[in-house]
Amino acid sequence: MLTILGIETSCDETAAAVLEIDQDGKCVILSNVVHSQIDEHTPFGGVVPEIAARAHIQLLDGIVDQAMKTANVKYSDLSAVAATAGPGLIGGVIVGLMTAKSIAMAIDKPLIAVNHLEGHALTARMTDQVEFPFLLLLVSGGHTQYLLVKALGEYERLGTTIDDAIGEAFDKTAKLLGLPYPGGPAVEKAAKLGDPTVYKLPRPLLDRPGLDMSFAGLKTAVRTAALKEEPVSEQTVNNLCASFQEAVADVVGKRSARAFEMFKERYPDTPPKMVIAGGVAANEAIRIRLNEVAAEHSAKLIAPPHKLCTDNAAMIAWAGAERLRKLVAEDPSILEQNGKGD
Ligand code: KG4
Ligand code: ZN
Repeated sequence: MLTILGIETSCDETAAAVLEIDQDGKCVILSNVVHSQIDEHTPFGGVVPEIAARAHIQLLDGIVDQAMKTANVKYSDLSAVAATAGPGLIGGVIVGLMTAKSIAMAIDKPLIAVNHLEGHALTARMTDQVEFPFLLLLVSGGHTQYLLVKALGEYERLGTTIDDAIGEAFDKTAKLLGLPYPGGPAVEKAAKLGDPTVYKLPRPLLDRPGLDMSFAGLKTAVRTAALKEEPVSEQTVNNLCASFQEAVADVVGKRSARAFEMFKERYPDTPPKMVIAGGVAANEAIRIRLNEVAAEHSAKLIAPPHKLCTDNAAMIAWAGAERLRKLVAEDPSILEQNGKGD
């Protein structure tokens, strides 16, 4: 049995979680505390790195304390501490990693440095016991990419955005149309009241092979269309949001179809699976489109619960646990080795 404390501070969520994992890899989330700094960043229309770093300093101790108390676990019961070591906003990463390092040193247990993207990549193994290999579509404010997850530590990026992340495009589109931050939910809400056929927006890069995407031009096309409509009525905003969302769903749908084909070429005997993660995975129109494409390709679409798809510390603790389990399998004495040097 492993008991792991996870810490996540790479962007604007201050988060800590405690997991218990048994011999067979079955996981119980004992606590999963996430403080979103939306209120701190809303006045600026986006995440301000300096403000995020300072907020992490102020909040993290209390969040870790809350996670430990909710889990009813003593520090001395922990097997290891895992923390995001990057990629991310460096100020926040330093706060989380140094806190984790201090706890690990104080209790004389291993510190596991986790790559944030590996945390997203492995989440569905915690929630749905998904077996390797599988596709991952990570669509958040900072990342937009297709990964082939072959095994623990073996990831191949099949395609990525060449400019804005999808969430970023949603946020920027919302801002230019006068909608609140974060833009994704606001654009989705407006799109429900709009007509997606009113504006013919571009579907960038779809004529190219591979899985790369581009969203900066789409956002600019929304701006150009809005400028032609001055003054912009509420219905115009709704129609622009609906047309924008439709274009994004089209791009992601077509790229996902190609991703399933690539998976089948690589693994002809394995039914294709795709895990979706990141804040944009909450978008209903995009999910519906992905489900249609998956059905057409006899593929399985796995969407972990929203709270575990957006930034959280349970996924970091889990990725740390997967790494630790592999190390323990290779050398069972590793958990007792700490402290022998003092
Ligand atoms: O994964 P996440 O919570 O944080 C990181 O970016 O790491 O993703 C946040 C992003 C934001 O850009 C937000 O606008 C977008 O996800 N988002 C959405 C929706 N909910 C959140 N985008 C489209 N539709 C949504 N319903
Ligand atoms: Zn993330």
